[in-house]
Amino acid sequence: MLADSSQVETGLIRTDFVTYQNRTGLRIAACLDHVGGDMRARPWVLMMPKFGETKKTTLHLAYHLVANGLNVLRFDPTNHVGESEGRMLDFTMPGAVTDAIAGLDYLEASFGVNQVTTVANSLSARCMLRVAAKDSRIQKLICVAGVVNLIATIQEINKEDLLGLYQQGHHWGVTDFLGFDINGDVFLRTLIESKLGDLAGSIEDAARLNMPFVFFYAERDVWVDKLEVEQVVAVNPRGQLVPVAAAMHEVRENPQAARQLFEQVVWTCLHDEPYPGEGAANLRSPDKKLILAQNRRERDRMRRSESPVESESEFWSRYLQKYSILEKASDYRTYLDLVGRLCGPLSPGALVLDAGCGNGLFGLWVLREVWQRQTLAPADEPLVYVGLDLTQRGLADALDNHLGWRHQLHKIATARAVPRPGLQYFLIDFDRLRNEAGATNQLPFQEGTFDVICCSLVLSYLRRPQGLLLELHRVLRPGGVLVVSSMKPNCDLSIIYRDALATNVTAEDIEAGRNLLRAAGKIKLKEEIGYYTFYSQAELAELVMDAGFNVLESCLSLGEQAAVIKAGK
Ligand SMILES: C[S@@+](CC[C@H](N)C(=O)[O-])C[C@H]1O[C@@H](n2cnc3c(N)ncnc32)[C@H](O)[C@@H]1O
Repeated sequence: MLADSSQVETGLIRTDFVTYQNRTGLRIAACLDHVGGDMRARPWVLMMPKFGETKKTTLHLAYHLVANGLNVLRFDPTNHVGESEGRMLDFTMPGAVTDAIAGLDYLEASFGVNQVTTVANSLSARCMLRVAAKDSRIQKLICVAGVVNLIATIQEINKEDLLGLYQQGHHWGVTDFLGFDINGDVFLRTLIESKLGDLAGSIEDAARLNMPFVFFYAERDVWVDKLEVEQVVAVNPRGQLVPVAAAMHEVRENPQAARQLFEQVVWTCLHDEPYPGEGAANLRSPDKKLILAQNRRERDRMRRSESPVESESEFWSRYLQKYSILEKASDYRTYLDLVGRLCGPLSPGALVLDAGCGNGLFGLWVLREVWQRQTLAPADEPLVYVGLDLTQRGLADALDNHLGWRHQLHKIATARAVPRPGLQYFLIDFDRLRNEAGATNQLPFQEGTFDVICCSLVLSYLRRPQGLLLELHRVLRPGGVLVVSSMKPNCDLSIIYRDALATNVTAEDIEAGRNLLRAAGKIKLKEEIGYYTFYSQAELAELVMDAGFNVLESCLSLGEQAAVIKAGK
């Protein structure tokens, strides 16, 4: 049945929170998005979030579907993050398949619906492919950046021969998978037994489909092999492969590609004919304010059900242990060079503040730079570097990292009777600065102390970044330079990660890389719940200006995944 969007008043879109059980008796929490009236008269779409994300991430697309005359049911899988029952530790792919079937059961029992279109991404798309192969209630299957060979994808990420190890009887125990502790043995065993893990299983499922299905393939996807998706689609004449230009596995990373994909997905839910192009599709958009309000509501619900178990300091201490691996990625080195260049030439005697220094990679860059310059022309006044961070661990690593280089500088300085650079470190929690409780806590420096301030990839993790920015403004001297950065919303680190582990890596590097990616999964979830906020270039510039700085330059770096701003006082 085709949707008639002319009957839909987009301002009336609303969401009901509902619960139902899956066939094993676990409670599923879901959202029903609709415009009221006779819901049975409109077609239905079932949406499943990506692994490690919640139904909230599918809200935006869901409201676009509703604005165009469809009803949507989007759910949190059980044994997963989100509001449904069960522990993430027990997550399995067949379990997620059972949960998707429960959505179909719920729609049939509550609304008499037995024709449903499904939309899913990444790993969830693999689950939906299985559901569609088994359950005739799916009338159309839409997969976005769908994984078709999960074992190969995990191998690509983890750099280990999963199948080989499994066949040798290797035990994983509790394993961190993309940022979440799961029972590795059960996950892998059920994956292999259910044939949800390999390409042959996907091809088999696709061959059995007797409804139209569309795979949207992100052209810059490093986790999914295009040739394998082509094999899956080619096995059945009802399949269609639609490339999404300039998109990575996390399609939302590129807002333009995401917008186009959105349109195409909405169109595909409504029509069997190919998408006619942006102008001709004539699709309706929901009211942005409605989406924002609903997003807030769901974020607040999530916060209540997903409170973090470790403190920020514990989290960052664990994360920073493995952070140095980033130095191996050429995109990160280019990023550091950019941050350094934006800081401007460091004059002799400059006072440099690194706010949220972590394990001091920017400090290393500064010391190398000074060393290079001093081998050419010695300066008589030493630079002073000051690192601030929340964690003892970060500061200790920073000191270790910096001492080696200071030693080099010391040798030159002694030979030429030049004083060596100063290094100072302070343990500090930026969230206690001028916080919302009206506290007037300040950084332990006088007004106008620093010539240059770097605040790299820190603001996003503060409850109130404005408190820190106001303090940085106070301690920067007039005419001084501030360089700040933030990962951009919906960033995708896959290419950076792959580059970091591309050449000359040790077993330790591989483990560090895995841990970094796992931490990225946790950071993403914290962003979804609203603990962290990633800023676009425009949003970061606004924050900086609100604190009294003038923006001098703005750009993207770190494989175009981070916004960087140079500002002055
Ligand atoms: C992603 S790391 C960035 C580290 C470093 N600036 C870099 O670019 O390599 C974020 C840093 O912010 C620090 N941080 C997070 N919350 C903080 C807080 N409330 N106060 C001080 N530092 C904090 C963490 O400890 C961590 O070192």
